[in-house]
Amino acid sequence: MALLDIEDATCHFDMPSRQVVKAVDGVSLSIDRGQTMALVGESGCGKSTLARLILRLEPLTGGAIRFDGEDVHHLQGHALKRFRAQVQAVFQDPYSSLNPRLRVGAIVGEPLKAHGVPRRELSARIDAALTMVGLPSQAAKLYPHEFSGGQRQRIAIARALILRPALIVLDEPISALDVSIRAQILNLLQDIQSELHLTYLVIAHDLALVEHMSDVVAVMYLGQIVEWGNSETLFSDPRHPYTQALLAAVPRPDPTFPRARGHVTGEIASALEMPSGCRFHPRCPDAIETCRSIAPLEHMVAPIHKAACHLVDSAS
Ligand SMILES: Nc1ncnc2c1ncn2[C@@H]1O[C@H](COP(=O)(O)OP(=O)(O)OP(=O)(O)O)[C@@H](O)[C@H]1O
Ligand SMILES: [Mg+2]
Repeated sequence: MALLDIEDATCHFDMPSRQVVKAVDGVSLSIDRGQTMALVGESGCGKSTLARLILRLEPLTGGAIRFDGEDVHHLQGHALKRFRAQVQAVFQDPYSSLNPRLRVGAIVGEPLKAHGVPRRELSARIDAALTMVGLPSQAAKLYPHEFSGGQRQRIAIARALILRPALIVLDEPISALDVSIRAQILNLLQDIQSELHLTYLVIAHDLALVEHMSDVVAVMYLGQIVEWGNSETLFSDPRHPYTQALLAAVPRPDPTFPRARGHVTGEIASALEMPSGCRFHPRCPDAIETCRSIAPLEHMVAPIHKAACHLVDSAS
């Protein structure tokens, strides 16, 4: 059984103008225990909204999300509390996600208090979480402003780990950090994952960042998944023109790496004005007449590889 199972999830926002923003529009994905799934796509395609649905920070308009077999959006009482402990998040900006008025020990230990862990256990557990992210115990006594961006993200990771969750949703965990320390934080996340057998959902704009850490990749465009597959296959043989374009934008040191064919032009459409047919057709270099009127269905193109494109053949 998958640890996280998202079935036809939808999140629509009603605007005062009576228009509807279809931020997430029929997403089905599942993540197995111990796996890392990367969710990639341009700004505004719905990645954070999907993350917020998984974390139950936003109500579903339709569909269902199951964690360990339980329907997340119908949990109550103890079951909801257990879910809140089991599923944690690390967000992009370690400057705004840490309360500046609290010492690091209180920030990292806050989930323990919220879950009724006895006081006498707090300091040892805070200490262990700080050690795990490579910070000294003395860090507990200091305030967030006394740390660099990378160290602050370590603090946010310590807070996410302290209840020993099963799943961590990482929403652009390194995009706000200095380029020189991004690899350190990614390595740290990978080390922690293997040590604690964690499952990750990593959200990123930049495909290059997730290539080495993900087992499977889902590519999102205007509220929908357009391609999904085993990481190696997706990077070596991207099938959807949008994925090809995203990959073409990634600088490659290896000249033998298969280059993407098309370059897309223009910007992602507004989620308020969804194009007809395939949502990507106005920007697609290969679009044919069918693409303008009929939405393509997701189909298998190889084992562990799906795409939603009229121009991509099914696996025979
Ligand atoms: N609370 C809200 N009310 C109305 N529209 C919203 C709300 N939250 C998100 N949206 C809209 O939903 C769409 C998806 O936004 P979302 O933040 O999920 O995208 P994203 O892929 O995370 O983008 P980024 O890469 O910039 O973080 C956008 O058009 C956004 O403006
Ligand atoms: Mg986002």
